[in-house]
Amino acid sequence: MSEKIFVFDTTLRDGEQSPGASLNVYEKFEIARQLVKLKVDIIEAGFPVSSPAQFEAVKRIADELDVVVAALARAKEIDIKSAYDALRNGKRPRIHTFSSTSDIHILGKFGDEKYGKTLEEKRKTVLKMSYDMVQYAKTFVDDVEFSAEDAGRTDIGYLADIVETAIEAGATTINIPDTTGYTMPSEFGQKIAELKKRVKNVDKAIISVHCHNDLGLAVANTLSAIQNGARQVECTINGIGERAGNASLEEIIMALKVRQDLWKYKTDIDTTEIYNASRMVSGFTGIVVQPNKAIVGENAFAHESGIHQDGMLKNNQTYEIMRPADVGVNKTKIVLGRHSGRHGLKVRLDELGYKFTEDELQKVYTKFLELADKKKEVFDDDLRILMGDEVYKAREMYELDYLQVNAGTFTIPTATIRLKVGEETIQESSTGDGPVDACFNAIERALNLKPTVESYNVRSVTQGRQALGEAIVRIRSEENSFTGRGVSTDIIEASAKAYVQAINQYQLYQRTNINLSEEKITMQSI
Ligand code: KIV
Ligand code: ZN
Repeated sequence: MSEKIFVFDTTLRDGEQSPGASLNVYEKFEIARQLVKLKVDIIEAGFPVSSPAQFEAVKRIADELDVVVAALARAKEIDIKSAYDALRNGKRPRIHTFSSTSDIHILGKFGDEKYGKTLEEKRKTVLKMSYDMVQYAKTFVDDVEFSAEDAGRTDIGYLADIVETAIEAGATTINIPDTTGYTMPSEFGQKIAELKKRVKNVDKAIISVHCHNDLGLAVANTLSAIQNGARQVECTINGIGERAGNASLEEIIMALKVRQDLWKYKTDIDTTEIYNASRMVSGFTGIVVQPNKAIVGENAFAHESGIHQDGMLKNNQTYEIMRPADVGVNKTKIVLGRHSGRHGLKVRLDELGYKFTEDELQKVYTKFLELADKKKEVFDDDLRILMGDEVYKAREMYELDYLQVNAGTFTIPTATIRLKVGEETIQESSTGDGPVDACFNAIERALNLKPTVESYNVRSVTQGRQALGEAIVRIRSEENSFTGRGVSTDIIEASAKAYVQAINQYQLYQRTNINLSEEKITMQSI
């Protein structure tokens, strides 16, 4: 009989810690709905104490969706209380609390005054604090997960003590993160096997793993942990996350599915929803999926060489270990055009996993007609972009209302832009080194801001000469970066939209991020 592996998706928490990937509440909710369709077991929706926006997103997801919703909390009362407040009206709340356990973290992060002078004293304090805080979380909910941060580099004896203590305090899931992506698959698997042997109450909790990808081994480490007794995997769509990211959900799931001959594990994941989830996350975060990415990359099912194509025509198993349809990649592309009508558009958007109000549908339909006029054939990717661009981003502070650009071989590039700010408009003009620079300068003048542009990329996201162009702009302010994405058949307009959106993300962060007195909490500081 196959054993169930629980899938804990942390796209909305660790995934959102990817540089520049901040998501607004609407986008998070939409992704959460898609994760429910995908049938993940647990959604980690955010870190409520870190900002009102995080709190609101966790609350909305917990209130409205019937799935286990986890909220992250450091081993501190203020965090745990905030996590509970966000989750309290949800059907299936989980508080996920954590503390660092490796010597490097304990010595590097915990001050002498509060934690003790020596490593031994500090370790004792962390042990007690973990016990107390799991107990505290248990006063609010039954479902408590405890993570031993940097477990990958934690001494096995101390790790076993921490795990035993957290279970004794009532934790029902114990997570063993390889926070820095340091371990090798055999070593990490061995660590899980050792814990199963050493911890006397280990059967009272599910062992979970959470692997980062700094050495490109996150998925391999996760699979090795499963073989050694882990029964929950923490992962993200497209493998996004802090630094090099987290273990990718789609790779773990398809490895388990494709090699059922090897391993008898099952998950509840509906693999045909993987591709929609991947596209949605990429669209909302602005993090492009590399073409050769396993399972969801553009080339994952493309066969280039003649020999391969010939083999595929004779029998597709010659070069494909899974079918594109297994992960929801539809080879026969559904194409809409200007005669498709509002109902046809609604049906296709439903199939792609979107939910919208009648007003939003009308708005997208208008945009769809404009696009169909320019492009004739409108593909799924065009629709995904319209949804992200027109429905969810539209509720932001500044909106590009009008743009005019003069550029040419012998002219000084000049741009005039008009921005909508609620009911008001601001108009400005500027010159620049090129048409995009002129637009950015005009926007900066209008808003009286001068952020550092960290990166700027343009690419075509759909097919054909009239393809939609996507611009992604990342700006930086102190230790945080913010990404904006703009789409249009005109790449200058796409660039201006992207810049305005990045500024919107920055403004949102400024308005909602709270600086808790003791230490500054940002997602990057975890
Ligand atoms: O990587 C990590 O250790 C984490 C914990 C908070 C679980 O993200
Ligand atoms: Zn992590």
